[in-house]
Amino acid sequence: MIICTKKKKLADLLFKKNASVGFVPTMGALHEGHLSLIEKSKQDNAITVCSIFVNPTQFNDKADFEKYPRTTEQDILLLNKADCDILFLPDAEEMYPAHEPVKVYELNYLEQVLEGKYRPGHFQGVCRIVDKLLQIVQPGKLYLGQKDYQQCMVIKKLIQDHFSGSIELVICTTLREPSGLAMSSRNMRLSKDARQKAVAIFNSLQQIQNHIQHTAFASLEETIVKSLLQSGFDKIDYVVIANAENLREELHFNPQKKYVALIAAFINGVRLIDNLLLNTEV
Ligand code: PAF
Repeated sequence: MIICTKKKKLADLLFKKNASVGFVPTMGALHEGHLSLIEKSKQDNAITVCSIFVNPTQFNDKADFEKYPRTTEQDILLLNKADCDILFLPDAEEMYPAHEPVKVYELNYLEQVLEGKYRPGHFQGVCRIVDKLLQIVQPGKLYLGQKDYQQCMVIKKLIQDHFSGSIELVICTTLREPSGLAMSSRNMRLSKDARQKAVAIFNSLQQIQNHIQHTAFASLEETIVKSLLQSGFDKIDYVVIANAENLREELHFNPQKKYVALIAAFINGVRLIDNLLLNTEV
């Protein structure tokens, strides 16, 4: 695997290769979920590029940024094992040169709800870095995990608005531990006890799926909030059943529509998110 730390060098390298490129952007602390994206990209493209960059502009909480797990050596071993072709590993100055004007992205409703509401500025930061990465790598296909459902929608809009839809977004299903817990870099920060309790998120999503046809959404959401708190969660940011196509909140089940349930909650001081498509597939 070639490791590149400079954007110019990476762009030149890819230009010379002149082959189909699949891109997997990450913030490191890689787990099997990331590796499944690498594997998918390898199946579809001649060259697979992975990036690792813990992007400061998407953290609205400085402590969260500082505590974000960083395991670069282990990540490199895993990427080599997965036969990834190129790792882009820039530092902050490389991605955010001093005095660079800050680009603003029009995300409208998408950044006012759920993650956008609870993490102000988060999606602007995601767009800033993904825009830069896509300009450097210029992939044909971009691979993202469904666990960050709203992020997938935001990046889809970024591709439409700023890359004329020229990059194909491939959304891959969330990988789960045998318990059902969604794989996440943040799980590394959970105690053994919290990791067991955290399974309640996936159980709740399944409970929602089992009841949506016959229960008003608001009352279902309220029941789940209470049961998550009883299961040991410290704080719930949201439990929401939304239209899977636009993330608008809905009140009752309508078989013509597609729904997604989304949860964000804190356990052990760690904020976890997860979601489940209730009557459709990715
Ligand atoms: O999902 C992530 O890990 C990050 O938000 C991304 C897409 C790599 C941008 O920093």
